[in-house]
Amino acid sequence: MTQNNPIHPVFPSILSTNFFDLQEKLTTFAAHNIDFIHLDVMDGHFVDNISFGPSASRAIKSRFNFKIDAHLMVDNPGKMIPQFIAAGSDWVSFHLETHEDIKENISLISGQGRKPGLVLNPDTPVENVFPFLEDIHYVLLMSVFPGRGGQKFIPASIHRVAHLKKEIINRGTACLIQVDGGINTSNIPDLQNAGADLLVIGTFLYNSANTADTLMEILNKINGA
Ligand code: DX5
Ligand code: ZN
Repeated sequence: MTQNNPIHPVFPSILSTNFFDLQEKLTTFAAHNIDFIHLDVMDGHFVDNISFGPSASRAIKSRFNFKIDAHLMVDNPGKMIPQFIAAGSDWVSFHLETHEDIKENISLISGQGRKPGLVLNPDTPVENVFPFLEDIHYVLLMSVFPGRGGQKFIPASIHRVAHLKKEIINRGTACLIQVDGGINTSNIPDLQNAGADLLVIGTFLYNSANTADTLMEILNKINGA
């Protein structure tokens, strides 16, 4: 989490929360200066699960001041990007593994003044995103295979973060590195040392008895306490 990165490095994912607790969780996040909520959007085709659509972005923006980071695990990002932008999403990421024109879909996002991101599955070579580093605001490196929350962190993700960070530094781009899946206080120090800027956290936050305490525990870890 770099010093010149003024936003809160924790991006809570609401995929694993019980929807009846959502208002209370979001209120806790707001009280702890969380800036972004991560929406795990699943279409039942790109991944074998279905989650929620643009209405989730619209609903959160109508009640809270959060920015929305929409992670599109969908086969047709070109169709969904405009809908999530219309629903208020501020950052939109889509998978490099989709079969549409990557640069075209990036400009669908940046053309509307929003921040584009590219997502890589754990088995997609990091080099595959290098040609796009100058066109995007962030790279999301999945540390689990996409489709559901609560999975085990893939340790090789640490090396992938370091490899990508080295290329970003060599190119002198401002591209941020976001990591998503199985993140908890035990793997945060390694992710931070490897160069991760932003952490998507779901289950570890929702499984805890006290979300506020867990948020503080995470922040202490990030700040090296
Ligand atoms: C997988 C999802 C999850 C979720 C967070 O498709 O993208 O990675 O955001 O996962 P947990 O619950 O492991 O923090
Ligand atoms: Zn996600």
